[in-house]
Amino acid sequence: MLMTLWLRIGVLLGKAVLLLLGLGLLGWALATAWLAWQYRGAVAREELIPPGEAAMTQDVIQTAVRIVDQHRDNTRYLRDAHAKAHGCVKAEVQVLADLTPELRQGVFDTPGKTWQAIVRLSNGNAYPQFDSIRDARGMAIKLQDVSGNQLLEDRQDQGEQDFVMFNHPNFFVSDVAEYRQNVAAQADGKKAMAFFPSWDPRSWQVRHLLIALSTLAPAPASPTQTTYFSVSPYKFGAANAKFRVAPDPDSCPRYTLAPQNQALPNFLRSALNQQLSTDRVPACFVLQVQRQDPNKYMPIEDTSVEWRESDAPFETVARIKIPAQDFDTPAQNLQCDNQSFNPWFGIEAHRPIGGINRLRKAVYQAVSDYRHARNSEQ
Ligand code: HEM
Repeated sequence: MLMTLWLRIGVLLGKAVLLLLGLGLLGWALATAWLAWQYRGAVAREELIPPGEAAMTQDVIQTAVRIVDQHRDNTRYLRDAHAKAHGCVKAEVQVLADLTPELRQGVFDTPGKTWQAIVRLSNGNAYPQFDSIRDARGMAIKLQDVSGNQLLEDRQDQGEQDFVMFNHPNFFVSDVAEYRQNVAAQADGKKAMAFFPSWDPRSWQVRHLLIALSTLAPAPASPTQTTYFSVSPYKFGAANAKFRVAPDPDSCPRYTLAPQNQALPNFLRSALNQQLSTDRVPACFVLQVQRQDPNKYMPIEDTSVEWRESDAPFETVARIKIPAQDFDTPAQNLQCDNQSFNPWFGIEAHRPIGGINRLRKAVYQAVSDYRHARNSEQ
């Protein structure tokens, strides 16, 4: 009797699992089909600025400054994002000697030219936490002594071109309106509201929640062993493009990093230090661009959409070498902290485009000014 009961329960449970599996597969197939249908066809080549963006931007600035205050270190005001650096290192960015003419744009207009640069490697979080915690990892590059008019009026004497990236190809929000709603919910400590702002299922952002979760990934073995993406688009001469920086070990001496103790809070800094400073081995990357084909679904105004490589491949325009060096000194670390990187520090040929980049123009400036002003008061 008892045996039969257990068998029946077993059969029922088995059927329930099969049903759930079937429903899951059906849901996945429907979602994939819906996305393929939604995200297809030609897109605009130009920026399309929605009404009300300027007011929404002001709201985001208020929230960003609130976050800087919330995450204040004991003594210093840190960045609102990517607060923790693994190090600022010197680098050489060499334009390919045989670069094809249509890729000779902006700072890549002279084949074979070598730029001196600084690279800041970071964790994405607003709070400097253990490196083993899931997070995005950032890379910000500043080319120095760049000639030509700078995009920002007050930076004319800086002669810089920044490339600001993290190691995931798409962003967890599409545009300024969604960013404003999402970040305000997070700053208020209402994390669930960030992606589920109301009871109405049409407002739920399940796909964006999945992007956020996959952006917060386990740490790479070293900041030199992951690929960094611009995520948002930029001008590339007359074209629109995204860019990325990928490890290129074949251009450097063979090197195997000794395993690091990942339980230590700053093991990514140690890994960088081990390679560049102790073992004195350089790190190599390629800098690549992916040019927009507006006949494909490669939108400018939606950073949650990854441009497919099958629609437009990444093309190498330069090689980056981070030579062996001693970077981990108190003076250099402080200088690194006081440095500002910004996608808008640069020239017209690489102008940031799209809503998220327009938002970054105002927010990076406001946060950078705020933390520098507060730090100089101390
Ligand atoms: C396209 C997606 C984005 C990427 C790839 C990105 C990447 C980065 C990186 C790598 C840094 C650190 C720069 C450094 O080393 O100094 C940074 C800083 C920062 N990001 Fe972003 N970010 C993105 C979007 C945004 C958005 C939408 C906002 C807010 C509107 C934002 C606000 C900031 C701020 C305020 C800082 C600190 C600036 C400073 O104090 O100097 N970011 N970001």
